[in-house]
Amino acid sequence: MSLFRTVSARRLIIFALASGWVVLSMSPASASQLQKNIAGYASEAKARDKTFEAFSADRGRILFSSRPATGKPDTPSCTSCHTSSPTGVGQTRAGKEIAPLALSKTPDRYTNIKKVEKWFRRNCNSVLGRVCTALEKGDFLTFMIAQ
Ligand code: HEC
Repeated sequence: MSLFRTVSARRLIIFALASGWVVLSMSPASASQLQKNIAGYASEAKARDKTFEAFSADRGRILFSSRPATGKPDTPSCTSCHTSSPTGVGQTRAGKEIAPLALSKTPDRYTNIKKVEKWFRRNCNSVLGRVCTALEKGDFLTFMIAQ
């Protein structure tokens, strides 16, 4: 009986520690995933251009608000859907809400690289008429995580 008690108490402690660890590690885990995604773009940028040193939030801001006139006429800028402010609630062409791109407003952004890549591909093609480079993507994320 006392052996049974000890074993189940030990199990309970292990369970409590394990679930506590999951909860505690959640936000640092997504923070480090975000850092990994940016580091991935940095090594791609460096591979393309040996003189690459760092991403620039300023260039990211310029990309966000520029109107390159090389994409589709109904989406002249990232701001066409995401509003002119990174903290603004955007809207798709069909009128569906888009949560703000600013990390301070939507903390789970930019952690899922598949999602990040899917939308960069789609949106850069719409606005610029081409895919974005790793430099542009890294600059854009660097700008958005500071907003
Ligand atoms: C036609 C509307 C539209 C335009 C124009 C647009 N976006 Fe988006 N964007 C969306 C939608 C819809 C989503 C997905 C919904 C969401 O993430 O909330 C999205 C998501 C994203 C994401 C993924 C965010 C994440 O959480 O992983 C990135 C990055 C992004 N957009 C960048 C851009 C950039 C850069 C431009 C300009 C070159 C741009 N978008 C222009 C509609 C647009």
